[in-house]
Amino acid sequence: MKLLHIDSSALGANSVTRELSAAVATRWLDALPGLTIDYRDLDADPIPHLTGRSLAGADPAETEASAHILQQFLDADVIVLGVPMYNFGIPSTLKAWIDRVAVAGKTFRYTADGPEGLAKGKRAIIVSGRGGLHSGQPSDFQETYLRHVLAFIGVTDVEFVRAEGVAYSPQHRADALAAAHASIPLPQRQAA
Ligand SMILES: Cc1cc2nc3c(=O)[nH]c(=O)nc-3n(C[C@H](O)[C@H](O)[C@H](O)COP(=O)(O)O)c2cc1C
Repeated sequence: MKLLHIDSSALGANSVTRELSAAVATRWLDALPGLTIDYRDLDADPIPHLTGRSLAGADPAETEASAHILQQFLDADVIVLGVPMYNFGIPSTLKAWIDRVAVAGKTFRYTADGPEGLAKGKRAIIVSGRGGLHSGQPSDFQETYLRHVLAFIGVTDVEFVRAEGVAYSPQHRADALAAAHASIPLPQRQAA
């Protein structure tokens, strides 16, 4: 089994999503000792913006790197995304990753009946951090966008580990982190 772990926070050691996504990976490895984990830090190791030159395959090194990113995604059984809310959406570094994995003919296609996601059978755990409170609000273009774009490419089994309101006060941050740690999903789902 393969787990792909992606971080996108620009806040380094102060990041709540980095702390939580690492905790998810550790708990999954503890539960599944044979688990293989691929890791990419999009802040330290960003992916270039998708441009016309990228689509034209003008730079062979970029084309190869892009193919590797897509293959890493296709090979993963579980995707863990550490995602801070930035300006109500996702970090642009993560958008650059999505632009490399949402690929026509590979992870989605259009049919006479409409679009079809092709990256089926994966589980995604989205670790969401927000300074304010946005759950169920029109201001949430972060989790709603991720749920939508993942479903579009076939990933419909999506769970959220959420720490929000972390900017309200140190106590809010500590409480949100503790609740988020307690909500980390494990490989074996709880019986209903
Ligand atoms: C550039 C930037 C933009 C942000 N935009 C928002 C925002 O629109 N709404 C919000 O609630 N919090 C916003 N925040 C706060 C972060 O979502 C919050 O600090 C969260 O914990 C970030 O996750 P991290 O700690 O893993 O980096 C922003 C933070 C930064 C650095």
